[in-house]
Amino acid sequence: MSRIARRWYFNARPKATIEGDTLVLREEPLPALREGDILVRTLYLSLDATNRVWISDWDIYMEPVHVGEPMRGFVVGEVVQSRNPAFAPGTLVAGLHTWSDYFVTDAQGFQSFARVAGLPLADTFGILTVAGPTAHYGLLSVGQPKPGDTVVVTAAAGAVGSLVGQLAKLKGCRAVGIAGSREKCRWLTDELGFDAAVNYRAEPVLECLRRCCPNGIDVHFENVGGEALDAGLTLMNNFGRVVVCGLISTYNSTGTAAPGPYMFRNVIMRRLTVRGFVILDHLDEYPRMTAELAQWMLEGKLRYRLHIVDGLENAAEALNLLYTGGNEGKLMVRIGAER
Ligand SMILES: NC(=O)c1ccc[n+]([C@@H]2O[C@H](COP(=O)([O-])OP(=O)(O)OC[C@H]3O[C@@H](n4cnc5c(N)ncnc54)[C@H](OP(=O)(O)O)[C@@H]3O)[C@@H](O)[C@H]2O)c1
Repeated sequence: MSRIARRWYFNARPKATIEGDTLVLREEPLPALREGDILVRTLYLSLDATNRVWISDWDIYMEPVHVGEPMRGFVVGEVVQSRNPAFAPGTLVAGLHTWSDYFVTDAQGFQSFARVAGLPLADTFGILTVAGPTAHYGLLSVGQPKPGDTVVVTAAAGAVGSLVGQLAKLKGCRAVGIAGSREKCRWLTDELGFDAAVNYRAEPVLECLRRCCPNGIDVHFENVGGEALDAGLTLMNNFGRVVVCGLISTYNSTGTAAPGPYMFRNVIMRRLTVRGFVILDHLDEYPRMTAELAQWMLEGKLRYRLHIVDGLENAAEALNLLYTGGNEGKLMVRIGAER
């Protein structure tokens, strides 16, 4: 008898945030394994802000998820059956696949997932799959911070942002974060070593950022877009770098593009370099970046929070936490128990 799997499908394009009928959970029989296939039991699913972009009607950086298709995400799981000599049963594998508790794949695009001695699987997967390399590449390769620089990061208490500020400190910079609650700002300054944090929901962003950056901004790491980006552009120093990593405040908008930034003229006035990037273009740099990140994690130089939601059935609702600020740290779903 074939095994029944549960899998989320993209059912209807949302008008804004994920709605009740945007994604639907179905049960379906798994196919028999063909030569080269593996059957994987999913342990963790990473929920990433870009998941909402994949189901938008935008022209994006990769093939979107089309209505009617299974929802896609980064997963780590355990091979339970194999007809592929490269993956014995029991091997941990990671890759981009469907939001499912079990799935069969020809293993294209899958790799063995290396545990890091001294780090739990959830930490290694949660931090080293997307958030860590994004912070590393975005800040260090794109932002090019120098000791003494002031680095500002938005969504600073999130998975990427919290790492960006700590990497800035490791490189001898002044780190200033912008985040959406007093508790998040307190975590940044009191526990992660940020020099200052602005609560954008409670304080006038430009005024506070000006006060927190008395020598201007050298690197602005953007995760959000909107008011904070304009505040950053306003305060940039000559020849500063603006790293455009994400624009999460726009991801739930459909149709016409969100307006702004209004301070775009400072790209000329301050002779700025503005550069966007997609981390998937830099997979060749993963070995170097993840080795460094893992070492800093083990040494306690990079701290982080994991926000783990239990149960595949809660994945769709959990995704919205990213757009409301309800997540505290790297958002992921525990789908199967580790053995
Ligand atoms: N370029 C790449 O390759 C790449 C790769 C990974 C991630 N990213 C980008 O990095 C950013 C962070 O992603 P993440 O996965 O680390 O998520 P995250 O920062 O852990 O969570 C998202 C956070 O964004 C903030 N936010 C959401 N809507 C907002 C709004 N309208 N205004 C202000 N802040 C808002 C919320 O924090 P508050 O409570 O502070 O509001 C929320 O907690 C996203 O923009 C994502 O697209 C880019």
